[in-house]
Amino acid sequence: MRRLLPDPGPLDDAGLAAAYRLPPGRSLRVNFVASLDGAITVAGRSAGLGTPGDKRIFDLLRALADVVLVGHGTAAAEGYGPMTPESAVGRLRTSLGRPATAPIAVVSRRASLDPGSRMAAGDDFPTILITCEAADPSRRAALADAGVTVMVCGDDDVDLPAAVDALADRGHEQVLCEGGPHLLRAALTAGVVDELDLSIAPALVGGEARLLQAALPDVVRLELRQVLEEDGVLFTRYGLRSG
Ligand SMILES: NC(=O)c1ccc[n+]([C@@H]2O[C@H](COP(=O)([O-])OP(=O)(O)OC[C@H]3O[C@@H](n4cnc5c(N)ncnc54)[C@H](OP(=O)(O)O)[C@@H]3O)[C@@H](O)[C@H]2O)c1
Repeated sequence: MRRLLPDPGPLDDAGLAAAYRLPPGRSLRVNFVASLDGAITVAGRSAGLGTPGDKRIFDLLRALADVVLVGHGTAAAEGYGPMTPESAVGRLRTSLGRPATAPIAVVSRRASLDPGSRMAAGDDFPTILITCEAADPSRRAALADAGVTVMVCGDDDVDLPAAVDALADRGHEQVLCEGGPHLLRAALTAGVVDELDLSIAPALVGGEARLLQAALPDVVRLELRQVLEEDGVLFTRYGLRSG
């Protein structure tokens, strides 16, 4: 892995962690991998765009986060489960002096999470479901009974600024959002995104699964802060411009 911008040069493990560490305080960063034409999946999963470097950064961002925020569509499509201490991320977190696990917070307007699923069975840090008043009360109750921490934020739909505030109140200040496109669009529209970390794979894929699947109300302008490279993949960090 090498850094192209700023300060070009090779990066070892410590240098890579330093390149992604955030100052203390609240933040929400989004991590995606996309092809050159903006596709985010091959045959319905992101794995077809992945490389060892992308996995390394995916794990590092998880290791640095207080909570992972993800839409139910992505959690289901990608087969999400709770973070465990013995996983690569767990070991990395420990080596960085952080708690070995962090919760996964699944955003679902309909409280779609299956109470019997692996995702619902978090031990050290229970999975969080972020939903709204409109979700079926019996589904919410079944998930709470299964050990899921149910957070109700909003009436007819999930109120993302309220959700991010509620996570911070629980001590989860540094939020890593892993998508997908519906959640990204909602988070950008709600103005809660501080940073986009986009891995750009040197591939052309086509198809309809794009980073954003519908127009945003306004163009969101970003500022390039960092570019790393490995195996032809560019690992970018963009900050969102305020105003
Ligand atoms: N390349 C990458 O880096 C990457 C990253 C992430 C995902 N993906 C891919 O993207 C695909 C999934 O796309 P997607 O757009 O369906 O994913 P998504 O945004 O994760 O999921 C959509 C679902 O999540 C819930 N949701 C999302 N935003 C919400 C909001 N603001 N308020 C309330 N509920 C919200 C809703 O669930 P309910 O219907 O339960 O209410 C909605 O139906 C998968 O194929 C996945 O592999 C790729």
